[in-house]
Amino acid sequence: MTSNKTASETEPRQVLPGFIVFEGLDGAGTTTQARLFVERLRSGGAAVSATAEPTDGPIGRHIRAVLSGSEHASDRTMAYLFAADRSEHLDNPDHGILAELKRGRYVVCDRYLFSSLAYQGSLCGFEFVRMLNSSFALPEHLVFLELQSRAGLERIKTRDRNEIYETPQIQDTVYHGYRQALEQFRDTKMRIHRIDGSAAPETIAEEVWRRIAITPIH
Ligand code: TYD
Repeated sequence: MTSNKTASETEPRQVLPGFIVFEGLDGAGTTTQARLFVERLRSGGAAVSATAEPTDGPIGRHIRAVLSGSEHASDRTMAYLFAADRSEHLDNPDHGILAELKRGRYVVCDRYLFSSLAYQGSLCGFEFVRMLNSSFALPEHLVFLELQSRAGLERIKTRDRNEIYETPQIQDTVYHGYRQALEQFRDTKMRIHRIDGSAAPETIAEEVWRRIAITPIH
């Protein structure tokens, strides 16, 4: 098949109330915006678990070693590793996403399966990565920080360490990968908030808050 159009999901996935995910290209500001959102929720008295992928568990640490270039793994292996890291991130009985939600906490996550669809999907085949991630539940809210494909790299070029996906060529393909990934979920119950990621951090944070928190989260 040469078409790059992807049918939207046919099987409805579970949507997890209180689970909020931030996504975007490298340098789009997902970490900053997730942090600002968590701070604002907490300042209103909410119980919040702030988390991220790759995780800081054993699989996530191995992924970080590959991202930094100190270990090697093929693109397909990375797709498996990210999926395995995610599986444990969801299911861990002590501090997993499902356990935290069950305790009545909000869970705010910096990156989730949409990163796999956009990054690994564009590097080793969208359908393969979609299948690997097909059993994972969706967040209630997905905040996608929109940025031109290379704009994020401009922001992070002063960092002293670079990761393997931080090249113009890869960011270009990931940019299209995100479009495909978001299209996939357009008819689901997950709410997708596409927000201009080029604005000042405080402006973006205000917009995120306006879009999500004005309506009770659940
Ligand atoms: P991130 O922690 O956002 O970057 P940084 O180390 O600069 O804070 O994410 C690390 C990288 O991992 C980023 O390039 C996106 C990539 N990634 C994937 O390729 N697939 C995935 O499933 C996830 C969660 C992240």
